[in-house]
Amino acid sequence: MGDHLDRRREEEILEAEQQVYPPPEHITASANVSPEDYERFRQQGTEDPVSFWEDRAHEMVDWFEPWEKVLDDSNPPFYRWFVGARTNIAYNAVDRHLETWRRNKLALIWEGEPGDTRTFSYYRLCREVNRFANILKGMGVQRGDRVTIYMGRIPELVFAMLACAKIGAVHSVVYGGFSVEALAERIEDAQSRVLITADGAWLRGKIVRLKDIADEAVKRSPVVETMIVVKRTGQEVYMETGRDFWLHELQQLPIASGYCETEVMDAEDPLFILYTSGTTGKPKGVLHTHGGYQVGIATTLKWAFDIKEEDRWWCAADPGWITGHSYIVYGPLILGATSFMYEGAPNYPYPDRWWRLIEHYGITILYTAPTAIRGLMRFGDAWPNRRDLSSLRLLGTVGEPINPEAWRWYYRVIGKERCPIIDTWWQTETGNFMITPLPVTPLKPGSATFPFPGIIADVVDEEGNSCGPDEDGYLVIKHPWPAMLRTIYGDPDRYVEQYWSKFREQGWYLAGDSARKDKDGYFWIIGRIDDVIKVSGYRLGTAEVESALVSHPAVAEAAVIGVPDELKGNVIYAYCILREGAGAGPDIEEELKQHVRHEMGPIAVPARIEIVDRLPKTRSGKIMRRVLRARAMGLPEGDLSTLAD
Ligand code: PRX
Repeated sequence: MGDHLDRRREEEILEAEQQVYPPPEHITASANVSPEDYERFRQQGTEDPVSFWEDRAHEMVDWFEPWEKVLDDSNPPFYRWFVGARTNIAYNAVDRHLETWRRNKLALIWEGEPGDTRTFSYYRLCREVNRFANILKGMGVQRGDRVTIYMGRIPELVFAMLACAKIGAVHSVVYGGFSVEALAERIEDAQSRVLITADGAWLRGKIVRLKDIADEAVKRSPVVETMIVVKRTGQEVYMETGRDFWLHELQQLPIASGYCETEVMDAEDPLFILYTSGTTGKPKGVLHTHGGYQVGIATTLKWAFDIKEEDRWWCAADPGWITGHSYIVYGPLILGATSFMYEGAPNYPYPDRWWRLIEHYGITILYTAPTAIRGLMRFGDAWPNRRDLSSLRLLGTVGEPINPEAWRWYYRVIGKERCPIIDTWWQTETGNFMITPLPVTPLKPGSATFPFPGIIADVVDEEGNSCGPDEDGYLVIKHPWPAMLRTIYGDPDRYVEQYWSKFREQGWYLAGDSARKDKDGYFWIIGRIDDVIKVSGYRLGTAEVESALVSHPAVAEAAVIGVPDELKGNVIYAYCILREGAGAGPDIEEELKQHVRHEMGPIAVPARIEIVDRLPKTRSGKIMRRVLRARAMGLPEGDLSTLAD
């Protein structure tokens, strides 16, 4: 099972397996899915996942034309869902609400880091999306064209995504925390002729100069012909005549009218590409489609987070990651919910910013990552205790295993022991929650509990046999599901190789995680079995960081590993061999960190860089990261050494 050395997780699991938190009665009594229905759905989903998902497709969304077939599995692993159906996710997320009372309901509430606020009813949202869609059309964007979006957490990001969907263009959102090379690579791979960005983003009271990064990226990937720029931070930026346009100026033109016809799409037409890190080489463009994706995200959100009309849902992720795509943008809007979005850092200007937001806006459900929880926990109980958090009724977590200590703090101090914690396991590739409790599920701290109805998950050994209780194995999905990725953009072979080759005969999807089930059937995620590192819940590939390091003229070779960390889950350690005569200065480590920050972004910066003469390798020349990792964790250094014992 890979080279998993994180024995702390093992101890955590053994301890937490014994603890059961039954669901509170006030939740069970009114849950969207009652305990009885849950049992019924689980049974239907296990016996006949296809009919289960067909029922949901009728229930959750509208179709312009029905399907001829629910699942086409004639050419695995290239599965097709709702074959022949016509739809558009933007219709379900926006247009259809205008015909109901929700027309005047708030779709989006937003607060900027400096404290400015904006709100959008479904009617307003529709107008904004239509104007943006018309601008894109005016710029020559057509059905099937890829549009790259690179900005901070501002409402225009949501409008831009929906505008693309509306006209049948394929969006590729690049997280605003990425930098030049990461952006350039993604633009190049998607061959985007249009880039939507902003002058800057606010973060911890400072301006992140997004437009400068975009300019540099476009120099490296000159396929971009048009840049649409949102004015957010207001500092002076370079605008290239004929290429760069301010959004607010375009909005004054007659083309930016408030009405735009929604394209009728095939269920299997691409909706977006989202790049994520894999084992080797470049980031992979995970491709999702209009039809199955909308069914999956709407069902999972409505059931797992019990979304009701009167909720104020806050998914504190970034729209630049799958969590934001599915559960800030598309999922809540399809359900006609009210979503809250916040631009900045959780601890700015004070560590109670989030708790103030919950109090101020009456947030009812908060969904975030273990890193954020641990980070806020560090500041102590007084900050949240000074705020009224009584509006909360459910809490959620995602992105990496949550350690039971953080889970209990979240449960006790934030949820006041009244709010179930919905620990959702899923991936960019899966599109929607795969393993997650419903509000009626008895919880164990740190377990994502059970597969969602209609999802057939298991833990298996090398030969594909189901593992026994508390035995570690490969996490696999044994039946296709509607929101699954369809391919890797431009690289179908890699799609087959990466996810479907390990258990080719059985036709199972390999998630890339190790996991175990306990005696009660609860799933416990342990961690990645490949060269993917989860840093603060962000997914990074060792290969990407290594290539950023060797792009520095002084570096001949680099090896990167993930090492467990109390706060961030993992941090990056890098080992570099310098070029002879490269004349590296005494501050070479710091210089290399700056270089990685400039190329990849702050999240990829190694916590530690060590200059070495040699790297442990196999006879065939493959770097033995396992050895590096063991060595790094064996260091007699504070808390790290305790992790290794
Ligand atoms: O290792 C698992 C971890 O995050 C990986 C997927 O990362 P990404 O595609 O960036 O998507 C993250 C948000 C959906 C998984 O392979 N992971 C995600 N959720 C959990 C988790 N690990 C443990 N518990 C979770 N709830």
